[in-house]
Amino acid sequence: HGTGKVNEHGHLEIGGMDTVTLVEQYGTPLYVYDVALIRERARSFKKTFENLNIKAQVAYASKAFSTVAMVQLAEEEGLSLDVVSGGELYTAIAAGFPADKIHFHGNNKSLEELDMAIEKEIGCFVVDNFYELEILEELCAPREKTVNILLRVTPGIEAHTHDYILTGQDDSKFGFGLQNGQADEAVDTALKSKHLNLLGVHCHIGSQIFETTGFLVAARKIFEKLKDWKNEKAFEAQVLNLGGGFGIRYTKEDDPIPASQYVEEIIGEVKNQAEKLGMETPEIWIEPGRSMVGDAGTTLYRIGSRKEVPNVRQYVAVDGGMSDNLRPALYQAKYEAVLANKANVEPDETVSIAGKCCESGDMLIWDLPLPKSDHTDLLAVFCTGAYGYSMANNYNRIPRPPVVFIENGQAKLVVKRESFEDMVRLDLPLKEKIKK
Ligand code: LLP
Repeated sequence: HGTGKVNEHGHLEIGGMDTVTLVEQYGTPLYVYDVALIRERARSFKKTFENLNIKAQVAYASKAFSTVAMVQLAEEEGLSLDVVSGGELYTAIAAGFPADKIHFHGNNKSLEELDMAIEKEIGCFVVDNFYELEILEELCAPREKTVNILLRVTPGIEAHTHDYILTGQDDSKFGFGLQNGQADEAVDTALKSKHLNLLGVHCHIGSQIFETTGFLVAARKIFEKLKDWKNEKAFEAQVLNLGGGFGIRYTKEDDPIPASQYVEEIIGEVKNQAEKLGMETPEIWIEPGRSMVGDAGTTLYRIGSRKEVPNVRQYVAVDGGMSDNLRPALYQAKYEAVLANKANVEPDETVSIAGKCCESGDMLIWDLPLPKSDHTDLLAVFCTGAYGYSMANNYNRIPRPPVVFIENGQAKLVVKRESFEDMVRLDLPLKEKIKK
């Protein structure tokens, strides 16, 4: 994996820190991030644009992993930030992120959320639907404010892993239909408004995509429209945002191309299309989430109970599960793992890793080869950096684990462990006294 190596004690080391030492200090379960790797990913995206001399914004999709420290890291790396809710926006502002580099997404932004974003003077609203066009106008007019917008369109493409599907009908809750006249109408509305400054178009075709075809087809379809809009409405898009979705390697079965290759091919296609139209190449914006932080994150658990179903399976349970990583239960997502304290020992059994939640579906990994293990051992699950902590929850009132950033052999706690008190923090009693 991107992160981790084995040290002289046979322990897994992340960013120069022994994971066994980390667990002694912070306990389990524990999310550990290799900060250098996140910086490397960010720089590689940015450099690819710079090398080809293309105006760009690389916006980190903070839904993948949003905390104050992560947002500050994104800021240090000169990234823009994609937020999708008042909570993510608030986190960005609380972290001191420059508002003009924040892009606000979402198919049902509330009045309060839009209000906060207008007040903070964020860089761009990615407008999803006609209702949003209307309320943005209504919120901006009395304040005599003008906001930058992109229109999110659905180009009739859905891409996942190796497949991309062309859907004639855009059956998606997101965006303006590109083929059915909705996008044209939205452009008209935006161009008429004094308060909406239409920068261009956005689309996002899916997540964990391993090939560039879907992106290139999306760009082509959008350019067909840009041509009409240029000719018929004298509107030239300054910005084309092609979303995120670049795939990463969770297990041996995954075979993504390097991030730079996605970007190079996308740039090639956009340049090509713009030239054909006699347009200036628009700024290209992208929104990687998973590919920015996914492989930089590892979750450490302590091994607990074991149950044998004779001749069928060994269940080995850890002290977390779907409360800190929902992806296996929700998407049948696959992960690889090792014993963090026996990282150089050959596997001698095959076990299935169970979570501790009261739900049969709470299984983290099926059929994992591991050395013999017991409660003295630690399990390290790789590639949990994206949509792990951000989708964590308190099912069964399990407190969420803390997050530690590692850089240059130094650990820094960036999210504290939730406590049992936190589990009742928002509860109000039915009776005056609760028994303690
Ligand atoms: N931009 C937009 C508009 C998006 O909807 C998304 C992800 C991204 C960017 C970032 O995509 P990424 O580069 O991370 O693939 N919870 C799911 C993933 C949901 C992705 C939703 N949108 C999972 O754990 O696999």
